[in-house]
Amino acid sequence: MSLKYTRKLEGKRVLVLGGTSGIGFCVAENALENGARVIVASSRQSSIDSTLSRLRNSYPELSSNVTGHTIDLRSSESEASIIELLKAATNDGTEPCDHVVHTAGDNLSIGPIDQFEGAEALLNAQRVRLLAPMLFAKHAPGKYMRRSNTSSIIFTGGVNTYRPGAGWAIPALVGGAQQGLMRALAVDLKPIRVNLVEPGAIDTELFQRTFTGEQLEAFRQKYRDQTLTGAIGTPENMSEAYLYVMRDAFVTGQTVLSEGGLLLAPGAQR
Ligand SMILES: NC(=O)c1ccc[n+]([C@@H]2O[C@H](COP(=O)([O-])OP(=O)(O)OC[C@H]3O[C@@H](n4cnc5c(N)ncnc54)[C@H](OP(=O)(O)O)[C@@H]3O)[C@@H](O)[C@H]2O)c1
Repeated sequence: MSLKYTRKLEGKRVLVLGGTSGIGFCVAENALENGARVIVASSRQSSIDSTLSRLRNSYPELSSNVTGHTIDLRSSESEASIIELLKAATNDGTEPCDHVVHTAGDNLSIGPIDQFEGAEALLNAQRVRLLAPMLFAKHAPGKYMRRSNTSSIIFTGGVNTYRPGAGWAIPALVGGAQQGLMRALAVDLKPIRVNLVEPGAIDTELFQRTFTGEQLEAFRQKYRDQTLTGAIGTPENMSEAYLYVMRDAFVTGQTVLSEGGLLLAPGAQR
């Protein structure tokens, strides 16, 4: 019997920027389970090493299907580093990526914009989530991605773009810009598909860093109360949105949300 659905990612090359933690880690796991060759990238060598160990321990028979590289997407040198990463991830373009997934995120820049010291600080707050995806989209398609409708670039935004809480101007700005960028790139980069995934509240390391101690449990409960599903999201849940976008060669220029019904829940407010 030839399988039409479950082997779509077999042998595909998937680069996950931010694949060492949270949502990106689960995208890497899920893609690996589905037969892909996965390259994870993030800023710290220690997190690359521990991610490779975790994945190789979980899937010993797939050990050779996962590799990792460091890159600091916040650096002012990030454009040169991105080209180097793309070369390394694709064996200098001879094994092009099928999917480039951007889930990298540094600590959230939350707070009223008058609390940011100087214009530079406001720009720096957008480097990892907005400038870096733009630079990948600039450099990856030429030589480092397969030019096909089976290939895709996936950005990560957030539902805070629709309903920003107090002090969420920067994340909301970045999310709104990603929506426009994604749609324009879907036109410019065709047939490569470009999509945006928008998570609701997902219990990841980022969440656990942003809210600590008792505050963390209070926030978890608050988000549970605010969804229709009565649950906070998991990165495993979230990874399914990315896998869907990779597997459906007809979806481009779209935003895919997974947020437990937060935006529909009556009276939901941060
Ligand atoms: N969790 C949520 O509730 C939620 C909701 C909406 C949107 N999002 C967005 O979804 C994305 C992923 O979130 P997450 O919760 O999975 O975050 P996470 O667990 O903190 O993971 C972030 C990843 O980005 C990497 N990273 C951080 N700074 C970097 C840099 N300068 N250069 C390269 N890589 C860097 C981290 O690895 P290193 O530390 O090794 O660099 C890590 O792999 C973020 O953009 C986040 O804003 C999350």
